[in-house]
Amino acid sequence: MQDLLDVEGLVTSFPTPRGELRAVDGLSLRLAPGEALGVVGESGSGKSVLVRTIMNLLPRNARVPPEARVRFAGRDVRALPRAEARHFWGPQMAMVFQDPMTSLNPVRTIGRQLTEPMRYHLRLGRRAARDRATELLTQVGIGEPERRLDQYPHELSGGMRQRVMIAIALSCSPKLLIADEPTTALDVTVQKEILDLLTRLRREMGMAMILISHDLGVVSGRTDRTMVMYAGRAVEVGPTAALFARTRHPYTAALLRSMPLIDQPSHTPLEVIPGSPPDLVAPPAGCRFAPRCRNAQEGCLVAPPPLDPDPDEPRHRYACLYPVGTERGRQALAENRARRRTGAGLDLAAVGAGAGKLRSEERGDEGGARQPLGAASERSERDQHSARVDEVTG
Ligand SMILES: Nc1ncnc2c1ncn2[C@@H]1O[C@H](COP(=O)(O)OP(=O)(O)O)[C@@H](O)[C@H]1O
Ligand code: SF4
Ligand SMILES: [Mg+2]
Repeated sequence: MQDLLDVEGLVTSFPTPRGELRAVDGLSLRLAPGEALGVVGESGSGKSVLVRTIMNLLPRNARVPPEARVRFAGRDVRALPRAEARHFWGPQMAMVFQDPMTSLNPVRTIGRQLTEPMRYHLRLGRRAARDRATELLTQVGIGEPERRLDQYPHELSGGMRQRVMIAIALSCSPKLLIADEPTTALDVTVQKEILDLLTRLRREMGMAMILISHDLGVVSGRTDRTMVMYAGRAVEVGPTAALFARTRHPYTAALLRSMPLIDQPSHTPLEVIPGSPPDLVAPPAGCRFAPRCRNAQEGCLVAPPPLDPDPDEPRHRYACLYPVGTERGRQALAENRARRRTGAGLDLAAVGAGAGKLRSEERGDEGGARQPLGAASERSERDQHSARVDEVTG
């Protein structure tokens, strides 16, 4: 089957007074029709720039080299003339942004904003578009849809505005829905409702989805595959269940340790990932995570590790020389502990990883299945994707 999305060797950069900032730096990605991909990473890792490149929605100063490939349903997205690109947004790809208040027009009614794309792309008449808009609002769980159509964005709550954004995104039945941190601005209970709504509608409509979050718990149970990004690159990618059950990249492991878990007492201290992401104008020559990585050895500083497949599960790939849960990884950490610092100079005692008995991560125990807070709650999904977070939490 043809890939819906095929991204190869993507570099997206911005000129800055200090030099070229490579927000996405050599990333490849494929998505099958109907597939859901989670993209996770700290703020600044290039998630939004990646999807904006895919949508052809970059600011004018952004640069993408001609040899980079971004194909959607077989078409070169970047070669689309502006007029044709406009027909791509809506029926082909649609996006739900983090903050609905900045993406909704404050001086237009909900009804107008919801019907316009359908009148333009689907050539629906006024009445038919309004009927469909009413249907869509009901589908996204908004009561009294007829009345809501005549209201303005400021008359709705944040959660309801995001539901409207989802309705707009779904209105032309896109083949790919991109949700860029769609719930970050909302409170926790509304977040879950919106994420569950997106997941349900996506499945019902057989739509592909890219779900972006800084939180691994959000993509767990809601996506088929997950890609973890660090400093503009993919560092671990694979079936979501495998990525949780056999986390291999120390950055993914650190993200998991920094997450609250459902069965953890509420005052359990969470680990903070030491240091901060690298300067994207002058990133380190070797592994970009090395300065913050507790497994790092001198060899990690030489060249970027390739994103290689796991010997036992080739769909699971990671860019690491000393992966978590492997003999090499355990030896690297034990060596670093013995000398109290890593090969990249991180003081292990200072980050609380210096001494004490080896935790289950280093022993390589599988641990019991535990579920990160905020993960999807459907029973079958939970069983399927239950996160063996113990392996990386100890
Ligand atoms: N228009 C721009 N000009 C210059 N730098 C930008 C621009 N947009 C994004 N960046 C930089 O690109 C990097 C990645 O940003 P972004 O994709 O927004 O991260 P994320 O979505 O993962 O939080 C950041 O360092 C950010 O400052
Ligand atoms: S062990 Fe080395 S290669 Fe792996 S993440 Fe750490 S620094 Fe990078
Ligand atoms: Mg972003």
